[in-house]
Amino acid sequence: MFQLKITPTAIVLAATLGLAGLAQAAGNEPIQPIKPAKVANPALVELGKKLYFDPRLSMSGFISCNSCHNLSMGGTDNIKTSIGHNWNEGPINAPTVLNSSLNVAQFWDGRAADLKAQAGGPIANPGEMASNHTLAVDVVKSIPGYVAEFKKAFGSDKVDIDGITKAIAAFEETLVTPNSRFDKWLKGDQKALSKNELEGYKLFKDSGCVACHNGPAVGGNSFQKMGVVEPYKASSAAEGRVAVTGKDADRFNFKVPTLRNVEMTYPYFHDGAANTLKEAVDTMGRIQLGKKFTDEENAKIVAFLKTLTGDQPSFKLPILPPSADATPRPQP
Ligand code: HEM
Ligand code: HEM
Repeated sequence: MFQLKITPTAIVLAATLGLAGLAQAAGNEPIQPIKPAKVANPALVELGKKLYFDPRLSMSGFISCNSCHNLSMGGTDNIKTSIGHNWNEGPINAPTVLNSSLNVAQFWDGRAADLKAQAGGPIANPGEMASNHTLAVDVVKSIPGYVAEFKKAFGSDKVDIDGITKAIAAFEETLVTPNSRFDKWLKGDQKALSKNELEGYKLFKDSGCVACHNGPAVGGNSFQKMGVVEPYKASSAAEGRVAVTGKDADRFNFKVPTLRNVEMTYPYFHDGAANTLKEAVDTMGRIQLGKKFTDEENAKIVAFLKTLTGDQPSFKLPILPPSADATPRPQP
């Protein structure tokens, strides 16, 4: 559905092209609003929500998906690189799970095709949850409350890793964040953004940020070189996409992160080296575009980025079904 929107650019365009030009300009933004999630199977989502919050999927019985992708903190852990099993300091920054269903692939290097494929990874990753799929299935299978939920979600009480990852992925698909102020503006609410924020958006577009950060997630849809104009001095040994493709040209190519809710997902970059948006914007300008923003320009872009914060997931904290006598217990 087309909605009329009058921006300064659109007014100039409308004057030169007539109203048809205005219509085209409004429909042509490089960023589109986030659509609310459609839930096909509520029982599956409910099961996935419980599993997402359940630390019993980890060897220690202490770490859940929500430990590193905290839904009270923009779906991240807000630390440089994640801390996992036995206080293992991971090699890379945890990206947000918010809007991750919009990603072209999962992980910084895209090694998992989708959310279901991704969800099996951390459970068995020795540095993260440090369990294994057999043990995770044994734990879930032993808990009567879960078996009943599997029956509701799948029509069968068979518990396997396929069902566990499917349910977690179905829950993650609901973690979209519509109704940001920027989305309201995109849909025609002129008052949703201040003059300063609009100027920031114009800078973001005109400087070329939208070449990589575009679409509904303002990123997430391509792999790009970190350090196009100037090399990036990373504090992590990760080399990005080359790990998946083996192609030298993909060295230091990383998935372009979504900028939705970016105000909440600090620190920034795959190595978590930038603590503030000011620093991240300055680095991006320099190394991706060869552009040095003034403090005023930087502040305007940051003001625009903060308008990308949408409705955060909201639900009752799930109460997890208790373990049974036979449930395998946490191990050090
Ligand atoms: C990446 C979900 C557990 C740390 C991801 C991504 C998703 C996700 C969807 C990819 C996001 C993207 O590429 O944009 C989950 C789920 C978990 C879980 C469903 C539970 C089953 C954990 C835990 C930790 C963790 C416990 C910390 C110990 C990370 C890190 C990455 C990541 C560091 C980036 C890894 C890389 O790109 O190489 N997670 N996660 N996750 N997660 Fe988790
Ligand atoms: C990361 C903003 C231009 C590709 C980021 C981040 C921000 C940002 C805030 C950190 C997000 C996070 O870690 O969660 C901007 C701004 C730009 C711009 C304001 C314009 C000045 C570009 C361009 C490209 C690009 C032109 C592609 C050539 C990337 C990539 C990352 C990233 C690949 C992740 C890099 C890594 O961590 O290794 N951007 N960006 N960006 N951006 Fe940009």
